[in-house]
Amino acid sequence: MLSSLYNMDCVEGAKTHLADNSIDLILTDPPYGIEGQSLHKHYNRNEDNVLDGYIEIEQKDYKEFTEKWIAQAERVLKPGGSIYIVSGYTNLRHILNALASTSLKEVNHIIWKYNFGVYTKNKYISSHYHILFYEKPGGIRTFNKYTRYGSDEYSSDKKSMNYSDREDVWSIKKDFKKGQVKNKNQLPAELLKKIILYSTKKGDMVCDFFLGGFGTAKIAIGLGRKIAGFEKSKIAYEYNIADMNKIKSGELLDSLRKPKGQGAKNSGKRWLKKDIRKIEEQFDNCLKDGLTKSATIEALSEKYQRGKFGILNVLKKSGR
Ligand SMILES: C[S@@+](CC[C@H](N)C(=O)[O-])C[C@H]1O[C@@H](n2cnc3c(N)ncnc32)[C@H](O)[C@@H]1O
Repeated sequence: MLSSLYNMDCVEGAKTHLADNSIDLILTDPPYGIEGQSLHKHYNRNEDNVLDGYIEIEQKDYKEFTEKWIAQAERVLKPGGSIYIVSGYTNLRHILNALASTSLKEVNHIIWKYNFGVYTKNKYISSHYHILFYEKPGGIRTFNKYTRYGSDEYSSDKKSMNYSDREDVWSIKKDFKKGQVKNKNQLPAELLKKIILYSTKKGDMVCDFFLGGFGTAKIAIGLGRKIAGFEKSKIAYEYNIADMNKIKSGELLDSLRKPKGQGAKNSGKRWLKKDIRKIEEQFDNCLKDGLTKSATIEALSEKYQRGKFGILNVLKKSGR
């Protein structure tokens, strides 16, 4: 089945509907535990188009609830599976502590810088969320290094676009369409696409324990993945489940940018002494023949299927 989405509590839902080791990626955004009904004051924005029925977790229950759902997440992830949890700072410690009590291992602690400021009077303006990226040990984790930017793409200031896209501080704007009804804290499509593209293959099973506006579900299906998930609020569930049927599996794939230079085949592989010697020799010969340094590196990168930075590093080590 392409999608299995339930209007129920995620802990009960996972126990009832998800088998052990069955999910490739969990991408989720739990309630922040900051008194849901006053979120609008905290986030300083117009709530007219925000859907009612958001279910908050009370502060006193946050630790225990977090431990319960994260234990389920650990159980259902496949070995080698990835989990990304979006969190504000208020209850971050509970999420970090709960993760530390499982077998899950940290891969990255990502900072997502967003574009709507939180109103503050006498202090700095909060403008980031944390995205905790962990893996379940025991398998090979999918990480599609060249899924968005290839090895041969550089910005006008000569920075590798692949490198920039893989830095752990992300600046991504919230989606805004005038008059559009949305869930509180709806995650931007750009952010969801990025995570799903890097951390899954087509046909993989994605899961969101807190569906909210069903953003993860819609993007996962649009990218040709499968989705399982839970939303406790009847209002949010009924409003968004109706939209799911309008999305065709894989419909977003054609709109994705095509990376240039899918990545050198041998990039990341151990260097053998004989290859290093050949590269140094050919580099020297090319320069003698009048080729520029950058054209030579480009040719060597193509020939040996290594990234340009890899070739440069080898040459630097021998003082070239
Ligand atoms: C921060 S929002 C998720 C927003 C979502 N990522 C989006 O882009 O729209 C958290 C959601 O979890 C739901 N929720 C709260 N408690 C839940 C529970 N025990 N099980 C499942 N969903 C729950 C809330 O109603 C809310 O819609």
